Amino acid sequence: MSMIKRRTVLAGLAAAAAMPRWVHAAAPADGVDPALVKFIEGLPKTEYHVHLEGTLEAEMKFALAKRNGLNLPFADVAAMKASYQYHDLPSFLAIYYDGMKVLLKEQDFYDLAYAYLGKAASQNVIYTEMFFDPQEHLKRGVAMEAVIMGITRARRDAEAKLGIRSQLILCFVRDLPADTAMAALDAALPFKQHLVGVGLDSDEAGHPPEKFAAHFAKARANGLHVTAHCDVDQVDTLKNIRTALVDLEVDRIDHGGNIVQSPELVQIAKQQGMYFTVCPTFSGTLRRGLTQPVDVVRSMLDAGLKVTISSDDPAYMASEYINEVLLRAVTRSNLTRADLAGIARNGFEAAWLPAADKAALIAKLDAYLASAV
Ligand code: ADE
Ligand code: ZN
Repeated sequence: MSMIKRRTVLAGLAAAAAMPRWVHAAAPADGVDPALVKFIEGLPKTEYHVHLEGTLEAEMKFALAKRNGLNLPFADVAAMKASYQYHDLPSFLAIYYDGMKVLLKEQDFYDLAYAYLGKAASQNVIYTEMFFDPQEHLKRGVAMEAVIMGITRARRDAEAKLGIRSQLILCFVRDLPADTAMAALDAALPFKQHLVGVGLDSDEAGHPPEKFAAHFAKARANGLHVTAHCDVDQVDTLKNIRTALVDLEVDRIDHGGNIVQSPELVQIAKQQGMYFTVCPTFSGTLRRGLTQPVDVVRSMLDAGLKVTISSDDPAYMASEYINEVLLRAVTRSNLTRADLAGIARNGFEAAWLPAADKAALIAKLDAYLASAV
């Protein structure tokens, strides 16, 4: 290849690498059977892998910044959205943590949670368990009470007004010092009746799940469930999945797509009846260097794992919420109506709810499936 041609090819590759992976040429429903689109829209759904701070839309960031007297380094919403350029977990997290700095008051957390719950309810999510990252807010001097009670007030209003039920999962930010995570847990325990579990998010590199063994034990002793992110294609991913499953005995795994590379771990997960909260948009983002994201959902379904699907951080992923994520999964993972019904059922069965409440939600799904044309 000539020098000039070689340079042109390399420049093209560099430009492609700079493109955010969530930018899609096609609309989510493009090429999907209209009857299946309708089926997805009406399907009663759950969502268990959604970071509230990841639902903070650019429009709301500007509104909160104005209310709180903060200046943002963007001329307008379009410029802010154009800055959402990331290519891996750390580059995503830098944008995500910077964005949440506008959240300062109880009312801000209320508005954030109510907006997400409204959006989810409009897409027929009838039950959700939502993540939040309190260490980041404590760092800015926000009181734990303001964070939890703002979200809790929104949850109550959304259930009363919109009919969507929800619970809250406190995530430990794994790349911050472990003692700050313990301090956050201690600060949250007086409000534990408003929490259903703890989770583990942020940058996995160098921060394996065992770093949080004591935190998980304390959370369990206080009646909370435990889940952990095992983002796709991370260093030591299989080791970390094993630790989470076998040593820490988590109740759920968030992402976890690399498990299909280990028949032994797949077997263990199946024996445990483990549920996975899979976010195909984000998993696609992490699979760098590939023009087509590897099909995480299909490979996990084919391995016989219990997959649920979620949107993760929709405000940073072209504002695609659960219905759009499912539509893209139909195209990318060749999901059938039976696959979608099975994924929805997994969602209800995975709920951290009393058995009777779970059965009532499953009855709603069954009624829909019986009547859907
Ligand atoms: N924080 C928000 N979204 C995340 C993700 N998918 N993985 C790790 N940390 C996150
Ligand atoms: Zn996540």
